[in-house]
Amino acid sequence: MFKLFKKRHRQIVNDKFIKRLRSAVIGEGMLHEGNVYLMDLALQNISNLGSIIEIGCYGGLSTNLICYLLLKHQKNNLFFGTDLWIYEGYEDAKCSTSEFMDGRVDVWRTDFMCHIKNSFIASTRLLSSTNLPFTMHLSSFDFLEKWKKKNSMRMYSGERYNLGAQLPLCI
Ligand SMILES: C[S@@+](CC[C@H](N)C(=O)[O-])C[C@H]1O[C@@H](n2cnc3c(N)ncnc32)[C@H](O)[C@@H]1O
Repeated sequence: MFKLFKKRHRQIVNDKFIKRLRSAVIGEGMLHEGNVYLMDLALQNISNLGSIIEIGCYGGLSTNLICYLLLKHQKNNLFFGTDLWIYEGYEDAKCSTSEFMDGRVDVWRTDFMCHIKNSFIASTRLLSSTNLPFTMHLSSFDFLEKWKKKNSMRMYSGERYNLGAQLPLCI
């Protein structure tokens, strides 16, 4: 019976921050606990050379987790991310797009996604202030084009960073 109902994934135990993070940042349900385990394993073993990229940052749940794991495992890799912050409705694949959030006729998709992007900014500033990620509002295609061309990006801080380093980890 134990074997039958045993979880088929591993999870991190005894990390109070990761336990709290799920209820602290928008996006619960998007980050499987097995993925948390695998990200932790990958970041423990990542080479110190090169950068990490994340495509699809949403409200910052996975981003804050990665920032935390980088600190926890004393890794200095630069961490870049990108998101278009465009609403993806449940019925969009059936070509029945609406301008409103699913199940509502009074909340615009654009307003909802502004809320998600602002949540991303607020949650990373709060939880990852010592190693903020370098996040861009771009499609993955445009982001990877800039990466291939090794473009330099100016951050809000005024500092410039060169894209195009080796990529030991893409999430
Ligand atoms: C499932 S959510 C990501 C959840 C996030 N990784 C987390 O764990 O909190 C998917 C995200 O990918 C973004 N996205 C989808 N297609 C994209 C694309 N082609 N370029 C950039 N972002 C994209 C969406 O805007 C959305 O925020």
